[in-house]
Amino acid sequence: MTERSLVAELEARVRARPLPRHVAIIMDGNGRWAEARDLPRVAGHREGAEAVRAVTRAARRVGIQALTLYAFSTENWARPEPEVGALMHLLAEFLESERGEMMRNGIRLNAIGDLDRLPPEVREKLDSVRAETRANPGMTLTLALSYGGRQELVQAARRAAAAKGDALEAEDLEAGLWTAGLPELDLLVRTSGERRISNFLLWQCAYAELVFADVLWPDFRDAELFAAIAEYQARERRFGMTGAQVTGGRE
Ligand code: IPE
Ligand code: IPE
Ligand code: MG
Repeated sequence: MTERSLVAELEARVRARPLPRHVAIIMDGNGRWAEARDLPRVAGHREGAEAVRAVTRAARRVGIQALTLYAFSTENWARPEPEVGALMHLLAEFLESERGEMMRNGIRLNAIGDLDRLPPEVREKLDSVRAETRANPGMTLTLALSYGGRQELVQAARRAAAAKGDALEAEDLEAGLWTAGLPELDLLVRTSGERRISNFLLWQCAYAELVFADVLWPDFRDAELFAAIAEYQARERRFGMTGAQVTGGRE
């Protein structure tokens, strides 16, 4: 069987079962991808942008409602300045080049994180693409930029405390998260073989299924996305109940 028909078969299998509504990805391994080829790290980030394009298209095609991509963490600001600069430049380029595709595919662009820290040219492009795609009815593509889960929780806690004092409940805190309005997180994928969360969606991960893939992000394409979704579909989500309770069977 050709690789193409293998991917088509995987896609058909994934489409036949309930899909995760909200998928988030920790896109890791760009630097290692480049280093393995004796290329500068930025070459890995550039190829990583190709993976973002392919995965966004594939997720939209199968009907994922929300795709959230960890593109730059609070902690990533501590990287060498030239790498941070190159990442910001690639981000601005990506926003410009994907504008048309997002409009054609009905994708709404969203962003979470401390966006005020982004350079003005990124901020401006982000604002304009978000405004242009605001009414698009298809998938919501959320870029986590200058994002930290602890920082998100701190600002949500401050807001909830200001409104409710110590009567605040989980729902009040949740309403102040940057992800408010998005579906519950169903599936979190991390590439590159690392098995950690790295300050991503700490609250939202509470009952997400975690899938760790060994592939480096620049090599991640449709087939790898569908394989992660297939793994999710094979899991039994119990939310604290017994297996029998969730399957309706006996134990
Ligand atoms: C992920 O790849 C991209 C960002 C964190 C911005 P890395 O740059 O972390 O790649 P590795 O982990 O060093 O291989
Ligand atoms: C997590 O990857 C952040 C992003 C993918 C944007 P890192 O490469 O920064 O994470 P650590 O440092 O390995 O935990
Ligand atoms: Mg990394």
